[in-house]
This record gives sequence, C-alpha cells and structure tokens, in this order.
Amino acid sequence: MLDEDASHPAAGTTPLSALDGGMPNDLRAFWMPFSANRAFKAAPRMITGAKDNHYYAADGRAILDGTAGLWCCNAGHCRAPVVEAIQQTAAKLDFAPTFQFGHPLAFELASRIADLAPEGMDHVFFANSGSEGVDTALKIALAYHKMKGEGGRTRLIGRERGYHGTGFGGISVGGIVNNRRFFGSLLTGVDHLPHTYNREEQAFTKGEPEWGLHLADELERIITLHGADTVAALIVEPMAGSTGVLPPPVGYLKRLREITSRHGILLIFDEVISAFGRLGTPFAAQRYEVEPDMIVFAKGITSGTVPMGGVIATADIYNAFMDGSAEGMIELFHGYTYSGHPLACAAALATLNIYRDEGLFDQAAAMEAPFADAAHSNLRDLDIVLDIRTCGLVAGIDLEPVEGKPTKRAYNAMVEAFGEHDMMIRVTGDTIALSPPLTFTESEIDETFSKLRSAIQTVS
Ligand SMILES: Cc1ncc(COP(=O)(O)O)c(C=O)c1O
Repeated sequence: MLDEDASHPAAGTTPLSALDGGMPNDLRAFWMPFSANRAFKAAPRMITGAKDNHYYAADGRAILDGTAGLWCCNAGHCRAPVVEAIQQTAAKLDFAPTFQFGHPLAFELASRIADLAPEGMDHVFFANSGSEGVDTALKIALAYHKMKGEGGRTRLIGRERGYHGTGFGGISVGGIVNNRRFFGSLLTGVDHLPHTYNREEQAFTKGEPEWGLHLADELERIITLHGADTVAALIVEPMAGSTGVLPPPVGYLKRLREITSRHGILLIFDEVISAFGRLGTPFAAQRYEVEPDMIVFAKGITSGTVPMGGVIATADIYNAFMDGSAEGMIELFHGYTYSGHPLACAAALATLNIYRDEGLFDQAAAMEAPFADAAHSNLRDLDIVLDIRTCGLVAGIDLEPVEGKPTKRAYNAMVEAFGEHDMMIRVTGDTIALSPPLTFTESEIDETFSKLRSAIQTVS
C-alpha cells in the first residue's frame, strides 16, 4: 500500500474524473509496461482524450496520432458507432460465459471474421490479446498433430527479430533478445529462421525488397536438422512490425508456404499488426496471396477499444478436433474467461462495419503510395537517417545511434515529437515506426512527415 496522503485521484470521485482533472496526483503505483518508468514519471506524457486521428494531452494540446495508438486504432478514435455499441452492450449483457454457454454476439462476430479471412479459414477461437492469440495458435498446432496421430511433432519454429507478444510461447518463438534473455530457458524444442533484413541489399526500398527470397530456404535446413516428423508449426509475422518494420522479400512467404506444406508443417501468420487493413487488404495473407493454416489477430479487430485477440483456423484444423473427440466431450482444453467477451464482440462488430462502410481497407491501399512518397521525400536526405522502409500504411525509419548510447536517439526523437511537434510516434531500438489510423488524410500524412523531419533534425 502506498503511504501518506489520501489524495489519490480516485478517492471520492467518479472513475472518469481522473481524465477531467488532467494529471493524477500520484504516479508511483502504476508499473508501466515496456516503458522507462522513472523517466516517464519525471516528465510524463499524459493522454486524457482522443477523437478521430488525434489524441489530447493533459495540457489540452491536440496530438496527431502517427501510430494508431499501438498499431491498433485503425478506424480512428472514439468513433460514435463503436462507442454506442459498447455502451449499449454494457447495459444489456455485461458478461456471459462462453464455456459450455454462448451469446449471439460471439457467433455473429466469428462469422464476420471468417467472411473476411482467406477462403477455407472458417473457424475463430477468441482470446483477449495478441499474446494470448499466439499461445492459442501454438497450442492448437501441437494438439492438432496429436489429434491426427502425429504427436511426435512438437517442435516450433519462429524467426529472429520476430515479435509474438510476451507469453512464454510468444517469447520462445519470438526473436527479440531483450524480450527473452531475462526469462529463463523458455519453451524447449524451438528453432529460429534468420531474419530477412540486410541494409546493404535493401536500403530505402518501398514495399517488399527484391533481395532475400533465398532466406526462406533456411527452413529446409532446419527441417532437415530436426526431421520433419518432429516439427509442428512455423510462426512468422508476414511483415515483422515491432522489430522495426521488415516487409517480406518478394516471394518469401510463398516459399515458406511451399516448404511447410510439403513437410506437413502448419504455417501460422501472426497478423496482430498486419490484419484489418494495415497493408491495404483485410489480412496480409491476401496481399501476399498465401493461405496459412492459422492467422492470429488482435488490435485492429476492435480498433483498440476493448481488448480482444484470437485465432482463425482452417476447416481442416477445426475438423481434426471435432472428428477426433467423442460427441459431448470437450474437444480442446483451452480458453479464457473472457474469450468472446460481449463488450469486445460488440466493439468488433461495430468496427468491422466502419471498415466496410467507409471502405477503409481500400483507402489504406490507395494511401500507400502517397505515404511512401512523403516518407522518402521528407526524410531521405537527412544524414542520420540510415534507412526508410514502407509497406501499406507502415513506415520504419532507422536513425544512426548515438555513439555508445543505443536507442537514445530515437527515444529523444519520440520525446521531441510529442513535446514540441504535437505528434505521437513509436520507437523500437533506434527505429521510428509509424502506423497511423487508416482514416489518415493526405494532408495528415504530409503533416506527419514534415513534423518528423523537424524532430529528427533536432536530435541530429
Ligand atoms: C505481431 C505481434 N504479435 C503479438 C503481439 C502481442 O499483442 P498483445 O500486446 O496484444 O499481447 C504484438 C503486439 O504488438 C504483435 O505486434
């Protein structure tokens, strides 16, 4: 318990009054995730409101949202139909279990997601986050092989620089060293493909780089090393996002599909970032014309409003469980109390309506070229910009690190952008990542990159 004064913001007030008041009195108790806690608490960047493509800071400034929150608010913020759906559902069905019971919203939403997914991906398992979605997909893969009488397939393959959330499954198949090295020995039986980035060969590419297809063949080597009959699944992000935006080399994902199919290995696309229009199609699977066995989704499904994640699986996978278990028995011993939570389902249905009615996936596709052009024309000549990668409505900009202080330069740019240029950007290592709402206009794209230019110049 925190000591001394009783003036914590919630005391004697409504839950929302902390937002009206701007700054909370006490910042100590909240242990912030993936954050420099002490630096933040010394100079907070507090957000108290949001609407459409802007946040509002505690001091009243409108902040251009260059990151759709955390790659999630694809429809923009506080959209009326989503807000109303959440409010009305909270008043009518606050919670209902989905273990052995059901409610209509979860079934309706699963059908809508299956309709958007590639042909034959007909079944949806709900979780509450990308990390849970990843663990769900990995567990389904292992159990699927067991159901099919191939229980020896227990190995999982991920990729260097991959990000698959923070569960033990996700960090085991993930390939970001700081997310792994503090947490023991992780899952056993995991191997990794090499990542696909090579600055010498790929720098300043718009879209998918031409170089790197051969790296998919490393999968053959790993499979030969372990034996195909020991490998359950390969999981990759079609476009690696959190590691600094790495679009796949041309043909690379198709090659992974060919190899996995040939060896009876499941291919899982982690589309937590790339789903729901980020790359100009409902899922990246459609942009790259590859049909995986499972797709993990989260974030954009509710435009970030209510936590939700999940897995879309093929009929073959679903049927293996239905056919492999006796009628009346539980087929898969997995699930979360909040799988298919009514508020998340309502938010998701309203969000999918916005995507459809406003044609936002097509809009993202139409904005890809202006977005890429604005990124390159505003930033490429800056001395400390080492590379710019763009793909759909995503940009990764590598800055030259400050000598002896890796990550400092990009962190400073983020602080500068927020404090002096009224813009939210995201940084990972010394890379700036941009992923605005799909509702961004061309003038907001221009504004983003000209503000970013100034912020980078200041930290040069
Ligand atoms: C590709 C990918 N997978 C999984 C996750 C984890 O999602 P969450 O933070 O909702 O657990 C993320 C989050 O950014 C992600 O980018």
